[in-house]
Amino acid sequence: MGTIALDKCGGDDVRILFYDTKRYDRESFEEVGKEYPSIEVDYLEADLSVQTARLARGYEAVCAFVSSDVGTAVIEELAQVGVRLILMRCAGFNNVDVENANKKGITILRVPGYSPEAVAEHAMALALAVNRRIHKGYIKVRENNFSLVGLTGMNLYKKTAGIIGTGKIGAAMCRICAGFGMKILAYDIYKNPELDFVEYVSLDRLLAESDLISLHCPLNDESYHLICNDTIEKMKDNVILVNTSRGALINTADLIAGIRNRKFFGVGLDVYEEETNNVFENREDDILETSVTARLLSFPNVIVTSHQGFLTEEALAAISRTTYDNVVAYSSGNIKEENVVGKLQAR
Ligand code: NAI
Repeated sequence: MGTIALDKCGGDDVRILFYDTKRYDRESFEEVGKEYPSIEVDYLEADLSVQTARLARGYEAVCAFVSSDVGTAVIEELAQVGVRLILMRCAGFNNVDVENANKKGITILRVPGYSPEAVAEHAMALALAVNRRIHKGYIKVRENNFSLVGLTGMNLYKKTAGIIGTGKIGAAMCRICAGFGMKILAYDIYKNPELDFVEYVSLDRLLAESDLISLHCPLNDESYHLICNDTIEKMKDNVILVNTSRGALINTADLIAGIRNRKFFGVGLDVYEEETNNVFENREDDILETSVTARLLSFPNVIVTSHQGFLTEEALAAISRTTYDNVVAYSSGNIKEENVVGKLQAR
């Protein structure tokens, strides 16, 4: 992957305002940050929004995450207070108004592949947990209920895995599934040449033949609601569906209808359409206003986690390091092409 040279650049110190800070973010960024003394970071618990964007006055850069609002109005505000660089400490950027940021002369940098294995291992953890009813077994035994009724799963060995999107995370998931002795079908707009043990097929064939379907493509115009009534109908009965990619790859209302029609053996979701207000927040005293999330949580064969696929020590360290490296590269003018979202702007 090439680098992009920037015309106007300087080596001055960079001050970053860090939004939506959680304890694990701060610990990891402070540890890795010892190696980057010219970068100063101030941490805010509040997430980026129209109201909090103005706090970035005096900072050259802000650091945001998957559920931050980096939409049109926030970009306007950030540009107004002089922010020149948005550091996404994640791979996805579907929450960023890239075009407007570029128009305002703001550069957006991201962390494209911090630990594909972290996410793929979580995808397999969800598949295994929902398949072997680990969530139910755990609660039952704690209640002195040692009955096995309702816990029957199926072997994954010799079953078929259907992997949609075979980039970094999808490829890691293919390797994990191969380790389980599964046959692997894949669907992607590009074939990954490393995956010679995988059979690339049409989406329809993947849907029709897979016992486990795992989503690893990004959210874009083509993939929005890829899983909907039409595609669910094409799936095998008793399929296990896992989504660790982005919530809107699945039409949740259609998924709920499919679950109610007993289409799925199990569903494991690390991401879902309504997650934005929930992600990374403790809402244990709240009454959930919307019925969709509550409905999903009510099914015995559905496990939902809160966008934690990335959450391993290795991934957090890699996110911190790449974010700091992005700042250094931005200052020195040699930025890795794949880390740039949209167009690079002169500093
Ligand atoms: P990647 O860019 O390496 O791979 C994505 C693959 O999807 C590429 O091979 C691409 O050709 C393919 N693709 C694009 N549009 C497609 C379509 N319409 N149909 C089928 N395939 C399509 O991305 P990577 O690193 O593997 O990440 C995948 C996604 O995982 C990210 O976009 C992000 O949404 C999600 N993610 C989730 C995390 C979590 O904590 N749950 C953490 C990191 C990423």
